[in-house]
Formats: sequence, structure tokens, C-alpha cells
Amino acid sequence: MLKNKVAIVTGAARGIGQSIAVELARNKADVIVSDIISGQATVKKIQKLKRKSIFIKADISDKKQVENLMQQTIKKFGKIDILVNNAGIFVPGDTKKLKEDDWDKTININLKGTFLCSQAALKYMKKGASIINISSVAGIGGYSQAAAYCASKGGIRLLTKSLAAEYGSSGIRVNSVHPGIIETLMVKDILADKKQKQNMLAKIPLARTGKPIEIAEAVVFLASDSSSYMTGAEIIIDGGWTCSL
Ligand SMILES: NC(=O)c1ccc[n+]([C@@H]2O[C@H](COP(=O)([O-])OP(=O)(O)OC[C@H]3O[C@@H](n4cnc5c(N)ncnc54)[C@H](O)[C@@H]3O)[C@@H](O)[C@H]2O)c1
Repeated sequence: MLKNKVAIVTGAARGIGQSIAVELARNKADVIVSDIISGQATVKKIQKLKRKSIFIKADISDKKQVENLMQQTIKKFGKIDILVNNAGIFVPGDTKKLKEDDWDKTININLKGTFLCSQAALKYMKKGASIINISSVAGIGGYSQAAAYCASKGGIRLLTKSLAAEYGSSGIRVNSVHPGIIETLMVKDILADKKQKQNMLAKIPLARTGKPIEIAEAVVFLASDSSSYMTGAEIIIDGGWTCSL
């Protein structure tokens, strides 16, 4: 489905990003694994699928490191067909106590990072390319104790639509994916707290948490020609959590 395509996935060392990187490879893409921690485990999984893969370390909130990520990709793979802006952080907490530094970090990584990676990749992207931004249900509605996170993820939602409007005529599609609660390290404390987990599941019609693969399969669809008439769109994958909003 993605034969001869070159994909970059940020935050691909673990969790949802790792699953996305592996599924893109299973669908025949070559994948650049990027993260601030080692992504070698993901690279090995991809190489087992007989696809090309390398790890390039990059902090997505740093413009120089992001430009290096794109330049190295071009040097080694010759093009960029798919960019998945997945890397992100979640710092929950009472708004009155939220540290300015945590606000800045959240906006700089989640929102500015998505912008910097898109901007740098767009310089090399050609007709047929696809950008997929991982937002959240927290980019659709507001959630208590998550002001910075919701602001950053809501920003990603409209950044996506803005880039879709701007680059549609160049044949470059930009879409967002909005996961609900997915079993990864990011939400392990929430899921470890029985009461919090129960309260959350009570609001989810499918009454369960999601798995990274359930996000990855939607990303593969958005990266492929199967979604050729979709741009500026949002796919919510949350077991129905937001359906009554
Ligand atoms: N897990 C969920 O329930 C959930 C729900 C909605 C949205 N999301 C979003 O999905 C994405 C992936 O989350 P996850 O659950 O796999 O979390 P995770 O914490 O397991 O993975 C995030 C990855 O991003 C990397 N990262 C963090 N800061 C970075 C930076 N500055 N530069 C580059 N890489 C950086 C981390 O090292 C890590 O490998 C995030 O954008 C997250 O906000 C997750």
C-alpha cells in the first residue's frame, strides 16, 4: 500500500509512535524513527519486516534539530512522502498550580514541535505527500486539569486545517487523528488509579481503553491513497467518548 514511500515518525521510540512506525513499515514504507530517547528497538522491529529504517535523534521543539532531521532524511532516503507528528507530552494538574515552565514545555513540544516539523518537511514534500498530526480528544473538547495539554492539542487541530487549506493546491494532504485513552506510558498513572479508570470507562460507550495499533491503522489509511480525497479532516478514535459532546 505504501511501497517506495519514505515516512518520518516523531516520538517513535515507544507507545503510539512505535506502533505507527511499525504499521507503516508493514505496509511497505521505509521509516525514519525519530525521538529524544533511543529508537533502536523500533528500528529493529522495522528491519525485521525487511524495510529500511534508521534512528535520527531530534527534539522537535528545537528548530535546528528538526531541520537536521529533514536534511539527514533527504541525504539518506532522497525524499519525504509521509510525516507523522506524533511526539508529545502530557503534564496534568490544577491550573492555579501549573508552572509556567510546564505550560511553555507543553506548547513548545506539542504545538510548536508539530509546526516546526511540518514547516521543515514541507520544503521537501511533493504532490502526493501526506502529513498526519496526532492531536487528542483533548483537542476536540476541554478537560479539567489539562489546560496546557488541551490548548496545545486544540492548536494542532486548527494548525492541521490551516496547512490543509494552504497546501491542498500543491497536492499535499494534512489531517489529524484524535485518540481517546490509549494504553501507553503517558497515561499509566491514570490507568493505575482504579477509581479514575472506572470513572473514565463509564463515559466511554465501548467501555474499554484503546490500543496503539488502533491508532496506527488509521494513520496508515491517512498516509495512503485510500484517503486521497481527505484533507483538513479529523479522525476521532476514542471508543465513542466524545460522541455526546
Ligand atoms: N496515550 C493516550 O491516551 C493518548 C491520547 C491522546 C493523544 N495521545 C498523543 O499520542 C502521542 C503519543 O503518545 P503516547 O501515548 O505514545 O506517549 P509516550 O509518552 O509513550 O510517547 C511519547 C514519545 O514522544 C517522545 N518525545 C517527548 N518529547 C519529545 C520531544 N521534545 N522531541 C521528540 N520526541 C519527544 C517521548 O520520548 C516518547 O517516546 C502524543 O502526542 C500524545 O499526546 C496519547
